[in-house]
Amino acid sequence: MLTKIIHIGIAVKSLEESLPFYRDNLGMSFAGIEDVAEQKVRVAMLQVGESKIELLEPTSEDSPVARFIEKNGAGIHHIAYEVADIEAAIAKLAAEGVRMIDEKPRCGAHDTRIAFLHPKSSGGVLTELCQCGH
Ligand code: CO
Repeated sequence: MLTKIIHIGIAVKSLEESLPFYRDNLGMSFAGIEDVAEQKVRVAMLQVGESKIELLEPTSEDSPVARFIEKNGAGIHHIAYEVADIEAAIAKLAAEGVRMIDEKPRCGAHDTRIAFLHPKSSGGVLTELCQCGH
């Protein structure tokens, strides 16, 4: 069902402050910043081999990422796995009793469709399914 770890999401307070470490010190290739209004975040994408790092900066105090940082501090927010068929993956998990935050895929950054599993079903690790392209 899963084809690779496509990205790891990291919650940051400020992209301007966090980006130089990943881009300049770690030397990751920076693929740009995108506003994801629906999630109230600005997302910076960095490529590491076949995977990405997604830096998430909240754009509003009621952003889920703002609440995450308030509770846990900045740090790893979620792990995203690539799937070839997101509807099939959601259906399989739901049939097995896995709770989903998103029972239908929604639009993520960079032309993807995504769905989050409920952390109660994934041992507290926020887990995202991600299908590239529409
Ligand atoms: Co993500």
